[in-house]
Amino acid sequence: MSEPRKILVTSALPYANGSIHLGHMVEYIQTDMWVRFQKMRGNQCYYVCADDTHGSAIMLLAEKRGITPEALIDGVWAEHSTDFADFMVEFDNYYSTHSPENRELSAEIYRRLREAGYIATRSVTQYFDPEKQMFLADRFIKGTCPECNAEDQYGDNCEKCGATYAPTELKNPRSAVSGATPVLRDSEHFFFRLTAFQQMLQQWTRSGTLQEPVANKLAEWLDSGLQDWDISRDAPYFGFEIPDAPGKYFYVWLDAPVGYMASFKNLCAKRPELDFDSFWKEGSEAELYHFIGKDIVNFHALFWPAMLEGAGYRKPTAVNVHGYLTVNGQKMSKSRGTFIKARTYLDHLSPEYLRYYYASKLGRGVDDLDMNLDDFVQKVNSDLVGKVVNIASRCAGFVHKGNGGRLVAENAAPELAAQFQAAAPSIAEAYEARDFARAMREIMALADRANAWIAECAPWSLARQEGQQAAVQAICATGINLFRQLVIFLKPVLPNLARDAEAFLNEPALEWAGHTKWLADHQLNPFKALMTRIEPAKVEAMVEASRESLAAAPAAPTGNGELAADPLAAEIDFDAFAAVDLRVAKILKAEAVEGADKLLRLTLDIGDEQRNVFSGIKSAYPDPSALEGRLTMMIANLKPRKMRFGVSEGMVLAAGPGGSEIYLLSPDSGAKPGQRIK
Ligand code: MSP
Ligand code: ZN
Repeated sequence: MSEPRKILVTSALPYANGSIHLGHMVEYIQTDMWVRFQKMRGNQCYYVCADDTHGSAIMLLAEKRGITPEALIDGVWAEHSTDFADFMVEFDNYYSTHSPENRELSAEIYRRLREAGYIATRSVTQYFDPEKQMFLADRFIKGTCPECNAEDQYGDNCEKCGATYAPTELKNPRSAVSGATPVLRDSEHFFFRLTAFQQMLQQWTRSGTLQEPVANKLAEWLDSGLQDWDISRDAPYFGFEIPDAPGKYFYVWLDAPVGYMASFKNLCAKRPELDFDSFWKEGSEAELYHFIGKDIVNFHALFWPAMLEGAGYRKPTAVNVHGYLTVNGQKMSKSRGTFIKARTYLDHLSPEYLRYYYASKLGRGVDDLDMNLDDFVQKVNSDLVGKVVNIASRCAGFVHKGNGGRLVAENAAPELAAQFQAAAPSIAEAYEARDFARAMREIMALADRANAWIAECAPWSLARQEGQQAAVQAICATGINLFRQLVIFLKPVLPNLARDAEAFLNEPALEWAGHTKWLADHQLNPFKALMTRIEPAKVEAMVEASRESLAAAPAAPTGNGELAADPLAAEIDFDAFAAVDLRVAKILKAEAVEGADKLLRLTLDIGDEQRNVFSGIKSAYPDPSALEGRLTMMIANLKPRKMRFGVSEGMVLAAGPGGSEIYLLSPDSGAKPGQRIK
């Protein structure tokens, strides 16, 4: 046996201002599968992560909710932790970037960089919000596009025409925070001299640390020359103050990757056998892998290795980049109900379905990964239920009925068993290379062979024949052993199935090396159904619930960790407008809905009819009875929608970014319930 490898693995640290969704899960599930594989192989592998808690977006969100940033990030940490745990993403440590370890390590790295001459200071002119008394990041400035005159565009690019520009080029600039007109102001900033690492990076990015397309993309930047990186932000900012620079804070992306080290340092304090330095010091022989999405490559493959090198630490062994999730061939969409939160998924479906589906789609590449919901149902049902679990359920009954649950010693298919053995190294190689799709294909090909062999032997007909009991037992004991091997191969992907199978097989936790073992003359435990089919109705309900949570949370943060703006919708013609039956409605009754934290149930009078409507406005109207008696506007001919709590017969009109800022529209006094908008 060779020495176990020492491996430290990370996933990107999710922003602490929004919920985990199925797009994120592409990353955390794939990292977890890889880590579980390494652990099953007997390697010393540690998986750390944390919430990414700093920055203006988090500061402003907390302010908007009327809580401290600390309270906000504590709540999100608890939510993220349970989401991950329920998807069986098993971190050795899930920490926070707002931690003493991170404060210390970030300051230490900064000091070392400064001492080595890698920090420069210079004055930067930037928009400043005179009302909020804060400098504005590009995303917090809005105005009219200098190219196409589209209104309400962000400070760095136009969503209408795609132009990119400096915020100072925007016409009519406004602060998206306060609405005030920003003024230009100078401030001293600290820069990390990335340019000093050009040569190192040119070499490092080409040394097998990155997938080919990623290295090629970076080469474009490297060839056109790097720029120094602005690592400071002025107060007010939620983050770490820079040593010896009062009022200056580290930019969130400076301390975020240091959060990997900090989480590991915190783990070392809990596990005395672990030594921080042996993983992080220059020249360390431990392996270090970061799993990230394609949107954050420059932070991990340029800035981060340069910081590590400059501060005298080791660099990553590899940065593994994956693509983005699409659902039904399109970007996840709130209106289509395909922007699915981790929790919404878990409310309807078992986590292992998703783990297997992602595994079956994930290769080594950086291409986007599509989750086609029909294909998802079909693949899981046919592979996991129809192939893998089927082997055990076909054989277990005969062993229990015919032999008291005891596996006989005879192997009825030595050739097939040998093929299973022979496949193990190639499956392991696929896992090691993160080619999960190939691993799944090879495993399912084995499952097909096992099923074909059992069908050919037809123990169910032999069982009805005189004198065939021994043959039936030999076939079924063989089938169970083949099933056991498949479970070992699938264990990194399906830890729950493996746990239940271990109980049925009456075996301790299965390790990879256990695939060479054959259960002979071995007592089983009673067989329980290991996995049920996905009912398509559950998938539909999940999509419905995701639509619903949009109505309930209009201002969900974007993946950038900032609040989404509503771009202007496409033009419609007059007929489309006329088709909408907009009416004055009187709120007769308004009440909270049990089990829905954001919904109100409204009983509306629209003249000759009453309507029951669910609306996601509770956070703005914590005392719903205050709404009773007032007039509002409703869409009366919206197709009724079945929701978890009942049927919603229309929609009331409200505006605003969400949370407590939702404003129900009202007609002027004198309007009568039922009157139609013309
Ligand atoms: N906080 C930063 C990472 C800091 S790492 C030192 C961040 N957070 S994030 O919450 O926006 O994203 C976390 C990870 O999830 C990133 O690797 C990102 O690429 C990935 N994904 C976010 N949305 C995704 C999809 N829709 N599809 C696939 N991966 C996605 O970035
Ligand atoms: Zn434009």
